[in-house]
Amino acid sequence: MFDKLKAKWKVGPFQLLLILFTFAIGGSLTGWVGRKILLQLSIDYAALRLVTYLIIITLCWPLMVILVSIPFGQFPFFRNYLSRLGRRISGKATRSRVEDNPSNMSTFTDTSLTRVAIFASGAGSNARKIIEYFQGHPQIIIALVVCNKPGAGVLNIAADFSIPVLTIEKERFFRGDAYLPDLQKAGIGFIVLAGFLWKIPSALITAYSGHMLNIHPALLPKYGGKGMYGNFVHEAVIAAGEKESGITIHLVDGEYDHGGTLFQATCEVVPDDTPATLARRIHELEHLHFAPVIEKTILSLPGVNR
Ligand code: GRF
Repeated sequence: MFDKLKAKWKVGPFQLLLILFTFAIGGSLTGWVGRKILLQLSIDYAALRLVTYLIIITLCWPLMVILVSIPFGQFPFFRNYLSRLGRRISGKATRSRVEDNPSNMSTFTDTSLTRVAIFASGAGSNARKIIEYFQGHPQIIIALVVCNKPGAGVLNIAADFSIPVLTIEKERFFRGDAYLPDLQKAGIGFIVLAGFLWKIPSALITAYSGHMLNIHPALLPKYGGKGMYGNFVHEAVIAAGEKESGITIHLVDGEYDHGGTLFQATCEVVPDDTPATLARRIHELEHLHFAPVIEKTILSLPGVNR
């Protein structure tokens, strides 16, 4: 049971212990507070007392666990847990499901939706913006997050939104079937690379030709290619004394940062910029433009219902 929880919540044994303590103490506190409030209300009818008690503990429980999670250092986990729970209750998550077993991802029914996979290796701030943008979209659904890095921030984001995750490993990706059967089984019609650091194998390039986008944090064709990612890009831009940088959204082909450019946006590089300050400005551009460009690209594909 503990192994199942560890896998489900993607946490280690120590964090699992802290989470279980938080649940236990939060639950006991909720019961205690519920009884105190009930005493103050002095309700005579047993049935009404029970209903009132249930309402009180339902309302108090999230507050208690979130309070207890703070000293245990589990606030981020419980914030995500409760927001997921809230979304599930309010029915917003009905179009997506958590899947720990990618082989079950084939259960999809609405063929009028274009199912998108986001490939990411890192924090996933772009993935979050994209997922938020397409929540409830009538034609496009973010159906899968593909990640090559255990512990990457993007995994928490996928969990937040109950999006299935496919964790991939090198051998099969580069020397096996590149997970193409899994993507096909999950009905993936479009791939978005959002900070994905591995080169895409030719099997996927061919299968998703014209159906795969990447975002690069500079104005290609400058500052692209192998090894040009993250702060390496911004360092190079600053070192070259550029007055301007920006983002490039482009189709993916067999070379790093190479396929046809679909969109660029620029920002200033100021004299005292560091890679970190420039990265912040670039991220703002990415968060603003990436999702709408993805939407426009998918909706212009032949065969997509508009
Ligand atoms: C972005 O800057 C993107 O341009 C690059 O990788 C970064 C990913 O950032 N390809 P995040 O993980 O989405 O925050």
